[in-house]
Amino acid sequence: MTQHLAAPAAPDSGTRTDWWRDAVIYQVYPRSFADGNGDGMGDLEGIRARLPHLRDLGVDAVWLSPFYASPQADAGYDVADYRAIDPMFGTLHDADAVIRDAHALDLRIIVDLVPNHSSDRHDWFRRALADGPRSPLRERYHFRPGKGPGGELPPNDWESIFGGPAWTRTTDPDGTPGEWYLHLFAPEQPDFNWEHPAVRDEFRSILRFWLDMGVDGFRVDVAHGLVKAEGLPDIGHHDQLKLLGNDTMPFFDQDGVHDIYRSWRHVLAEYAGDRVLVAEAWTPTVERTAHYVRPDEMHQAFNFQYLGTHWDAAELRAVIDGSLAAMRPVGAPATWVLSNHDVTRHATRFANPAGLGTQLRTPGDRALGLRRARAATLLMLALPGSAYLYQGEELGLPDVTDLPDEVRQDPSFHRAQGQDGFRDGCRVPIPWAVDGPSYGFGTGGSWLPQPAGWGELSVEAQTGDPTSTLELYREALRVRRTQPGLGAGDGIEWTGAPAGVLAFRRAEFACTANTTGEPVRIVAPGRMLLASGPVDVTGAEVELPADTTVWWAV
Ligand code: NOJ
Repeated sequence: MTQHLAAPAAPDSGTRTDWWRDAVIYQVYPRSFADGNGDGMGDLEGIRARLPHLRDLGVDAVWLSPFYASPQADAGYDVADYRAIDPMFGTLHDADAVIRDAHALDLRIIVDLVPNHSSDRHDWFRRALADGPRSPLRERYHFRPGKGPGGELPPNDWESIFGGPAWTRTTDPDGTPGEWYLHLFAPEQPDFNWEHPAVRDEFRSILRFWLDMGVDGFRVDVAHGLVKAEGLPDIGHHDQLKLLGNDTMPFFDQDGVHDIYRSWRHVLAEYAGDRVLVAEAWTPTVERTAHYVRPDEMHQAFNFQYLGTHWDAAELRAVIDGSLAAMRPVGAPATWVLSNHDVTRHATRFANPAGLGTQLRTPGDRALGLRRARAATLLMLALPGSAYLYQGEELGLPDVTDLPDEVRQDPSFHRAQGQDGFRDGCRVPIPWAVDGPSYGFGTGGSWLPQPAGWGELSVEAQTGDPTSTLELYREALRVRRTQPGLGAGDGIEWTGAPAGVLAFRRAEFACTANTTGEPVRIVAPGRMLLASGPVDVTGAEVELPADTTVWWAV
């Protein structure tokens, strides 16, 4: 097997394996993290300058959402060139500098890979359109004639995740209406045909390009979507979004995807170091998710069942148990996540009544939301496995729920006629400083308006304040690195607790989380290490305040 010379070495590569089993991975959404050149849009230079913040926070790795050349129809998840950086984010030289600097700070870098679809400006797609219906280039995507006498109806009844039909009709080079093409997301995101060997070869080559650049892994976008059921059969229902997550759809979670990830695992094995594949796979059950992380496939998969769980002890316990049980047989670590760039931040989800979903436009009770968010974070970081943080959650940021419709850029907002698609609310550039234009995000404003008062939540405002959410995260990550019983592993021992309280032990560590709105008295399981809010321990008993998690050394 070819051993590629590892490009810039990852931290302790060769000495520590399986770093990802208990890694805390911080998601950077490049356009909203830090703006280095003052054009109001975050960029690689900004990220590079702020890497020390991530080292001081204490995370192990950084996942960068897409920075590739893209017309930005879906904020970079529409890639026109997988081997180039979009000029608005910088250059390949800047990407190299970010990777090298991160490694020098002991941080690993995971990049986003978008294999389900390209941009409609990708060279392959443009040529396929220009060549007309009989072009073999069209076989790399899903082009089909329409139904009906004049081909005026879409080839099947599939609906786009972003609303509307999943098909768009093309115009032939001679100007007449032509074939249709499939796009599970926006029309600017045509789906690749993964049955075509050229598509498979191309993505193995793209993996090698970035591995040669020295990245430590890939977060694989829509990992469950690449293979479509043979014949692209009708679903037979409208409102298919409601079926997602419960039923197996002919375009999601088809068994054929697993061969692809097995072949990618071989590509990673050509490289020194301990590089990883992380699946963004929305499947109906955690058992189905576990298929993606069998020993010869990916390393981790996001746990969206956990992300969707309410702040409720019984529900949380069921999902935690289910997740650990599903991962154990395949030997993969469980993962935990509360926020990302596609859902309302957890400080706002938990501020609202349960059951409203993960995309909200109501601020709810902010103090309650923050208290629960802090408690939920400590609970998550106590669980065995790997945890994902989304930029700004360490500041306790809420979603910006009152963005005017005219500034929204989420394509799903526009395709769903404003009924859905509130993802811009979690994508507002984050505050670094108390004052200044865009609160330290950059010198030239911010591509989405930041709310008044954002500076009070900034890194500057919170640093050194022991009651701040930022210092809570820093301390939690410090304790997580040093306390036996925190981090890797695949099991916890539940201990007796009153209704609404979660209590478990792991080696020399215990965690108690009160998910109720009332204080609860419990026997202190040991010496208090950290709490998500004020707690008085006097004697053998402790009153756990409402919505509070406590870590203990036992
Ligand atoms: C999942 C990404 O997280 C989301 O932001 C994007 O819109 C879709 N995949 C399509 O690429």
